[in-house]
Amino acid sequence: MIAEPKMQNLRPKILAAFNFAQQQVENLIDKYPDTFPIYTKDGKWQIKGESWTNWCEGFLGGMMWIFYKRTSSTNWLENAIHYSQLIEGRKNDKTVHDLGFLFWSTWKRWVDIFKDERNNEVVITAGKTMGLRFKEKGGYLRSFVAEDSLFIDIMMNVGILFYAAQQTDNTELLQKAHQHCLTTRRYLVRGDGSTAHEGIFDLDTGEFLRQSTHQGWRGDSAWARGQAWALYGFSTAYSITHERRYLQTARSCADFYIDNTSFDKNAPFGPGIPPNDWNEPNSQAESSAAAIAASGLIDLSKIVQDPIYSARYQQAAFVILSTLTSPAYLASKTSGWEGIIKHGIYHQRKGLGVDESVMWGDYFFVEALDKALSLME
Ligand code: GLY
Repeated sequence: MIAEPKMQNLRPKILAAFNFAQQQVENLIDKYPDTFPIYTKDGKWQIKGESWTNWCEGFLGGMMWIFYKRTSSTNWLENAIHYSQLIEGRKNDKTVHDLGFLFWSTWKRWVDIFKDERNNEVVITAGKTMGLRFKEKGGYLRSFVAEDSLFIDIMMNVGILFYAAQQTDNTELLQKAHQHCLTTRRYLVRGDGSTAHEGIFDLDTGEFLRQSTHQGWRGDSAWARGQAWALYGFSTAYSITHERRYLQTARSCADFYIDNTSFDKNAPFGPGIPPNDWNEPNSQAESSAAAIAASGLIDLSKIVQDPIYSARYQQAAFVILSTLTSPAYLASKTSGWEGIIKHGIYHQRKGLGVDESVMWGDYFFVEALDKALSLME
């Protein structure tokens, strides 16, 4: 049972957090102009920190577009355009599986607001580049680590492939996007709604071999961020295609998140905040998974027909936002902290960004605040 926070108490907290987020991003771009840090160390953004992979360069610009949309500030508009332009060349980047993260957050928002044809071409090109990752044998978009590897994270990037296919009437690209979702659903989403981080395939035959992980505890465990990517990614895939199987999958992933995370006031990490991995003994809190889940749950609450489930997903999102806007997570009362929300984890085994602010955690938090404010208007 999820006890919904009182709306009259939550709205001021959300507005204050949204203002704080703008201050922190302003400070970041003043102090480290034209850079794309991924995580903090002791609360300070790391400019030359090891990145593992380059997937976060859209999130700063993405926050600026959200700030612009809500405030109409020309300062945010100029910065949003500038930080989007800084990454334009990445539309041809064949080395990462993250072009949705980069271009959906930035150039797609730009297109949605100003409807510019040339900018739309940039989004389409990024989607087509993503399509080059498709492995016919196995039927999936390969991850950045190897040809035989499928990541649950790619569900957050397949949306741009659907978009490019729809914009250009490209049925081959559309089929690849659908096949990727169906393969992910079949091999990475389990019967109980939990997800595996990675799937490994036989490159010669396309046979699925095993579940595996990089950032979770074990191949058969449930890494919280992967779960959040899945619930959000399948919701987006459903919103774009209206393929009912994606909605079923989004719901079962969301239900796993909610059923396995305490929403109680005595919850170990605060209501609605998961550990890095639900199966790992003594796992630490992972606030970025909570921020992603909150944003995805708000989307899901709007597309689910059943009013009881719609309310369940919205309530869960509001509880998470109530926790993330409290002093335990929001950095506004932590002197000298440069990120927006604390207690995220990037890559535990590599020791990167553990119990720190992480750029995508801040981005999805801001996105969820914006969506929550829209619901409250
Ligand atoms: N997509 C990389 C991560 O979730 O850390």
